[in-house]
Amino acid sequence: MMGKVIFSLLLALPLVTLGTSSDKKCVLSGSWRNELGSNMTISAVNAEGGFSGSYLTAVTATNKRILVSPLKGSQNHKSQRKQPTFGFTVSWTFSNSVTVFVGQCFMDDNGEEILKTMWLLRQEVRSPGADWKATRVGTNVFTRIK
Ligand SMILES: *[C@@H]1O[C@H](CO)[C@@H](O)[C@H](O)[C@H]1NC(C)=O
Repeated sequence: MMGKVIFSLLLALPLVTLGTSSDKKCVLSGSWRNELGSNMTISAVNAEGGFSGSYLTAVTATNKRILVSPLKGSQNHKSQRKQPTFGFTVSWTFSNSVTVFVGQCFMDDNGEEILKTMWLLRQEVRSPGADWKATRVGTNVFTRIK
């Protein structure tokens, strides 16, 4: 009898902890800022997983004046996963470059949403001979602007 009760408790425990810790989904839509101070806003994610938005970078390798630039992307399996993967392209309005980001939307240990991303920036170069220096790579971490 006692053994049965303890066994039932052991079964019930993981269900309780799962129920309390894994409810919140990471949602891509909204306003985000990264560790450099760049800001971006992402629209609602549509039925196909598509989204659009705008990106205001805090840094540039050019000497042009920074302007808001559009972004377009897609999220994997819309709203089905708690921590979805995504990708988007920023087409810079003030230069001839594009940057593609890939990342994942996580719930961190404090229950806060965080976007971990990697990016490739393609710069325009004059000829195929200059192709070797045309791509930069980096990482960015975004947190939600409240
Ligand atoms: C991002 O937004 C904050 C205010 O919300 C502002 O202080 C900051 O300058 C913005 N970053 C850029 C690159 O404009």
